Amino acid sequence: MRLLFLGDIVGRSGRQAVLEALPGLRRRYALDVVIINAENSAGGFGITESILMDLLEAGADAVTLGNHAFDQKEALVFIERHDRLVRPINYPAGTPGRGSTLIQTKGGADVLVINAMGRIFMAELDDPFRAIDAELTACRLKQGADAILIDFHAEATSEKQALGYFVDGRASVVVGTHTHVPTADDRVLPGGTAYISDVGMCGDYNSVLGMDIEEPINRFLTKIPRQRFEPSHGPGSVAGLAVEIDDKTGLATACSALRMGPNLEPATPDFWAE
Ligand code: FE2
Repeated sequence: MRLLFLGDIVGRSGRQAVLEALPGLRRRYALDVVIINAENSAGGFGITESILMDLLEAGADAVTLGNHAFDQKEALVFIERHDRLVRPINYPAGTPGRGSTLIQTKGGADVLVINAMGRIFMAELDDPFRAIDAELTACRLKQGADAILIDFHAEATSEKQALGYFVDGRASVVVGTHTHVPTADDRVLPGGTAYISDVGMCGDYNSVLGMDIEEPINRFLTKIPRQRFEPSHGPGSVAGLAVEIDDKTGLATACSALRMGPNLEPATPDFWAE
């Protein structure tokens, strides 16, 4: 199974880059499943239903979220209608939506998608380790699902690495999101779980984490907000992780960062013949 995960879409630049690139990527690499984090896709804050529909139409099989999941208030309602949209599993009980979803690819494979949020330098949600452990116990690899992807939306690389090893051999892929800066540690862990601390973002890299550079500099200098953070609207790039999954074991045999576009070090999965 060929899986592609794309990192946090930031604003219009990120949306355009993904909508333009995705159909071609699906064809070029004969992708079986595509999952995208879109928690910053609506003006940098949250997601709307029409953006979700555009992403699904362009070839996303599932969309994940994070700390900005409900910044657009309409998400509290429409999230209940879409079983391909996932918010962090460790929100308080009773939060609208779902923390995991089992989707079926066109080829008939079942893929479990789990979204969770870290707790270091972030809101104090429930324990993500125990929440993910319960999920993996209820739906084991090659019993309940042919592949399992975990999007761990977290700030600290220590928490992300620990989670990677915690589920190594029980999940196909752990992708880190949220920092918007790609890390250079994409690899398959000893137990067979593909891992990267952060895939990076889809958006304008001539920016501060996808936002116009002016206001972040102002806030560091003066501590006085002058305007709200606005997504940077230059040409967008695409960043993600490509994973080859063994159909027999559900574990990863190879993974590589995939990065394309301006102001970003390019990366191509060389284990997939075009
Ligand atoms: Fe985030």
